Amino acid sequence: AGRVELPIQLPFEFADISRISILACGTAYFAGFVAKYWFETYANLPVDVDIASEFRYRAAPLRPGDVSIFVSQSGETADTLASLRHAREKGQHIVSVVNVATSSIARDSDVVVPTLAGPEIGVASTKAFTAQLSVLACLAIAAGRARGALSAIQERALVQALNEVPQLMIKALELEHESEPLARQLSESSNMLFLGRGTSYPLALEGALKLKELSYIHAEGYAAGELKHGPIALIDDTCPVVVIAPHDHLFQKTASNMQEVAARKGRIILISDATRERAACALEAHIPMPSMHPFTNPLVYAVPVQLLAYHTAVFMGTDVD
Ligand code: BG6
Repeated sequence: AGRVELPIQLPFEFADISRISILACGTAYFAGFVAKYWFETYANLPVDVDIASEFRYRAAPLRPGDVSIFVSQSGETADTLASLRHAREKGQHIVSVVNVATSSIARDSDVVVPTLAGPEIGVASTKAFTAQLSVLACLAIAAGRARGALSAIQERALVQALNEVPQLMIKALELEHESEPLARQLSESSNMLFLGRGTSYPLALEGALKLKELSYIHAEGYAAGELKHGPIALIDDTCPVVVIAPHDHLFQKTASNMQEVAARKGRIILISDATRERAACALEAHIPMPSMHPFTNPLVYAVPVQLLAYHTAVFMGTDVD
């Protein structure tokens, strides 16, 4: 009904905290990285996001009474669990976003926000990722309301955007025929880049991870604006560059990065609701996405990113599970 109602009682007020720390590994870390943008944008709340295996060995100053959120599909990842115990010693409120409600991380948390994605069969997390994003999106909206950063009207618009995600994901799945033929071309590459800005940056990192993990092709994700600071040297006509660029306020900036790639004969695969013409450079392929509220871009754009990795792996004969 246009509002986020958390199915749990939080033992703290979002209005009283000064910072959230998000800790996780692998794909769950990238879901947390997307959430950092959301908490900052919609709740005006500073967020640190950290790889659990680094966090536990750092001396990150934590203010007692602040909140640490642990994201994990299995709820058993050793580094995430160890960082949870470290955060508890530092007086943090412990919130976990887990898929397995009976897991160690769930048991050791003050509050569990379940992802309810059902059993994740494959090693490479996919549906758990989008479910983690959904839960974190709801938490960001709830934080935004509690902190007065979002009005009721703004909340309604964000909730409506979330409600539209299932239909948008169906549309994105219907575009499967676009990524399937690309798999043959990608399978011939030994290196690939994924680029994105804003929430598309962590999604680019996730895209590169999925491709590596499933197809064994080397891939790196980069913030589009960081391209010029080194990785552009890698680009030539053997290097596919997947650009995740929804047609939002950041698109023009990313388009100029695409033009830099095109000037080096990089083979651009654009995933965007913008037309090919708007890229103003040569594209090898364009996966034409439906348009949506910018808030939900990472949820829906995850679908073609996962399908690219999936079809490349299937084409190469590697075991996607
Ligand atoms: C890795 C998996 O080993 O663990 C990733 O390959 C996963 O897919 C990561 O994201 C973290 O796992 P979990 O269960 O803590 O989310």
